[in-house]
Amino acid sequence: MSLLNIFALLIQHAVMCGIFAYYTYNVKKDLKQVLDNLFNGLKRLEYRGYDSAGIAVDAVDPLMSLSAADGSILEENGTSSPLIVKEVGKVSQLEKLTTETIAKHHLELDRLFQNQVGIAHTRWATHGIPSVVNSHPHISDPSAQFTVVHNGIITNYKMLKDFLLKQGEQFTSDTDTEVIPKLCRFVYDRLSEKVPFPKLVMEVMKKLEGAYAVLVKSVHYPGELVACKRGSPMILGVRENTSGQRQTSFKQLHEAGDKKWRDEAIECWVASDASAVVEHTKRVIVLEDNDVLHLASGGYGIYNTEQHDVEEAVPRVLLTLQMEVEQIMKGGYEHYMQKEIHEQPESLLQTMSGRVKFQRQAVGNPYLSPRIKLGGFAESAHTIKTSRRLMFIACGTSYHACLASRQTLEELCDMPVVLELASDLLDRRCPIFRDDACVFVSQSGETADTLMALEYAKDRGALCVGITNTVGSAISRLTHCGMHLNAGYEIGVASTKAYTSMIVSITMMALQLSEDSIGKREKRDQIIDELGQLPGKVRSALMLDEMMMQLALQLKEEHSLMFFARGRNYATALEAALKAKEVALIHSEGILAGEMKHGPLALVDEKLPIIVIATKDGMHKKMDSVIQQLLARAAKLLIVCNEGDEVMTAYEKQGCQLIKVPETVDALQPVINIIPLQLLSYHLTIIRGHNVDQPRNLAKAVTTSEEH
Ligand code: UD1
Ligand code: BG6
Repeated sequence: MSLLNIFALLIQHAVMCGIFAYYTYNVKKDLKQVLDNLFNGLKRLEYRGYDSAGIAVDAVDPLMSLSAADGSILEENGTSSPLIVKEVGKVSQLEKLTTETIAKHHLELDRLFQNQVGIAHTRWATHGIPSVVNSHPHISDPSAQFTVVHNGIITNYKMLKDFLLKQGEQFTSDTDTEVIPKLCRFVYDRLSEKVPFPKLVMEVMKKLEGAYAVLVKSVHYPGELVACKRGSPMILGVRENTSGQRQTSFKQLHEAGDKKWRDEAIECWVASDASAVVEHTKRVIVLEDNDVLHLASGGYGIYNTEQHDVEEAVPRVLLTLQMEVEQIMKGGYEHYMQKEIHEQPESLLQTMSGRVKFQRQAVGNPYLSPRIKLGGFAESAHTIKTSRRLMFIACGTSYHACLASRQTLEELCDMPVVLELASDLLDRRCPIFRDDACVFVSQSGETADTLMALEYAKDRGALCVGITNTVGSAISRLTHCGMHLNAGYEIGVASTKAYTSMIVSITMMALQLSEDSIGKREKRDQIIDELGQLPGKVRSALMLDEMMMQLALQLKEEHSLMFFARGRNYATALEAALKAKEVALIHSEGILAGEMKHGPLALVDEKLPIIVIATKDGMHKKMDSVIQQLLARAAKLLIVCNEGDEVMTAYEKQGCQLIKVPETVDALQPVINIIPLQLLSYHLTIIRGHNVDQPRNLAKAVTTSEEH
C-alpha cells in the first residue's frame, strides 16, 4: 500500500504520541538504571506534547528465567508478567507512581538484569479521554501475555474490535491500540507450532490498517522485542562492544537463540524521535515502512513485510548521526524557543557553510568559479530551470518561508513560481504536470499533508525537490533531489530558526539556478555579499530582546494584534501573526496592506495595536502611505523600520513606537524583520503564563492528516 493510500485512510488526528524502548543483552543494569533510561527517553519526547504516559519492564531477568530444563519460563515471585505502570499527567508523576508501585510489590531497585526489554510511551489522547486505562502500554489479557505501545492510528480498529468481542475478548480501554495485543494473543493461540516473534507480528500487521509505529513484548518470547512501522517514524539506536551481529534469516535467528551470540553485549534504543536516542548512541538505523525489527539474543534483524521472502533480513544502513547532545538541550536558555531564536546567527551560518563563497572574485572569469554551490542540485539544476513552473508546497511556517522567498525566485529565475499549502493542493486535486518542478519545504520532513502532496506530485511525474532540516526524514528520502537546511535540531513547536534558514536556502537555490545569467549578475552578487553579513545583522537584531520584553509587558492584556506589510514582508506579517497566535494565544492577523481598503481598515481605531513592517525595500513608499492612512484613523502604531530611516523616525513625534532593525538587501530583509517579532511572541507567551515550547493543541510534526 502506498504512503498516499495509508494517509488517505486517516481521519483528523494530530498524533503527538512518543514511543521509546530500551533493550539490553549481556549488559548488567539494575532496575533503577533501566527505569531511569526509560524515563529519560520519555522526557526527551515531551516536547511533542502528551497528556499521559506509561512503561512496561521485565520484573524477572529474561535470560535467567530461561534456565528451566525444558526452556520454559521460570517464574519468580509467581509471575513473569512485566511490571506495568501508567499515569495521567507528566512523566515526573509516572516516575513517582513507579517508585510507589515497586515498593508495593517488594521489588528491589538494585536488582541486576543481564537482559531487559523496557518499553515506554507518551500519549496524546485520540481515541478515548486521557486516563490511566487508556494510557499505553496495552495488554492482551490480565497476565499481559503481549504488551504493546503504539504511535499512530489503526483506522480499522472498530471492525477488529467487533471481531475480537465476538470471539469472547474483553476490552478495558476506548483506544484503537488495544486491538493489537489482543490480536497478537489471538494469532498466537491458534498457531499449530510456535513461530519466531517477528513472524507472529507480521501476521498481526496484515490485519492492521492505518499509520503506526508499534513495540511489542511478550512473556512467550522473553528477552525479545519486536518493533514495526507503517507511516509513523521510528529509529533504532545501537551500542555494541563488538562489530555487531545481525541475523540474516529466521533460521539463523533460531540458532542464535540456542547459543551463538550468548557472549555478545549490546544495548539498543528504539524511538519515534532521534532526540531520545542521540545521547546514548550516534549509530542509528532509520526504519522504513513495513519494516519489522527484531531484537533478540544479542542481535538485531530487520525484515520487511513487502519483500518477497519475509524471512530474510533486509539491509538497512547504519548511519552516524551528527546531532550533538547539547543540541537537544536548552543550552543555558529557559526555553527551547528562546534558545532557537537566539541561535539564529549560528544556524544561518551553518545553512550557508560550504555552500557560499562570500568574497567576490577579484580577477578572472566569475562564471568558472560559482559563488553558490549546492551539492544536492548539481545534477538537477538544468531540469529545474527548464521546467514549466516552480511549485512550492508546504504547511504553516514553512509555507511562509516560501512566500518570503517567492519574489527572489521570480526575479532571479524568470520563471513562474506558484505557492501551495499542501492540504489545499490535495483538497483541490490541483493539476500537476510532468514538466513541473515541485519543491517540498518542511522542517521535520514528516508532515503528513506535505508528504501526501509529494506522493501526489510524484505520481504525476513531476520532478520532486526537498528542502528539509531533517536528514533521513521521509521528505529527504522520497524526493528526487534537494537540500538540507543544516539549521540544527529544532525542538520548540513554534518554528523559528528553521524559518530563517528556509528563506536563506530558497534564496541560495534561486542564486544557483540563475548563476549563468549575465543580466542578474549584479543583483546576485549583492545578495551573496549580504548573505555574508546576515549572521552579524541578525545578531544585532537580537539586541532588541530587552525592548521586546518591555513591549510585551505593554501589550500583555491585548486581545488582538494586527501586522500590516506588503511585498516580501507580507510573509513576515503572516509569520509574526502565526507566532503570536500559536504560542502567546493572542488573536492576531497578518494583513497584506494592499488589501487594507478592502476590509481591514474597518477594524482600525485608537485601541487596536497595529505593527507595521516598513523596512527599506521596493515597498517603502507604499508602506509610508499605509502608515499615514492608519494614523488618519488614530491607529496605535508600532513600526518595524531600518536604523537611520528618517522618514520613519519622523513618526515618533506622532506617538508611533519604532522597532529599528539593520538594513540588508530586499531578498534577505524578511530574515532580519522577523527576529524582533519572534522575540515579542516569546515574551508575550511567558508574561501571559503560557507554555512556549508546547503550545496547547499543537504538535511539532503533524504526522497525520484529514481524509483526502
Ligand atoms: C553533503 C553532505 C554533507 C557534506 C557535503 C560535502 C549529507 C546529508 N550531506 O551536503 O554532510 O559535508 O555533502 O560535499 O550527506 N536531498 C534530497 N531531498 C532533500 C534533501 C536532500 O534528495 O529533501 C539529497 C540531495 O539531493 C543530496 C543529498 O540529499 O543528494 C544531500 O543533501 P545536502 O545535505 O543538502 O547536500 P550537501 O550540502 O552537498
Ligand atoms: C506544525 C508546526 O504546525 O507544522 C509548525 O507546529 C510548522 O511550526 C508546521 O511550521 C509545518 O511543519 P514542517 O515540519 O513541515 O515544516
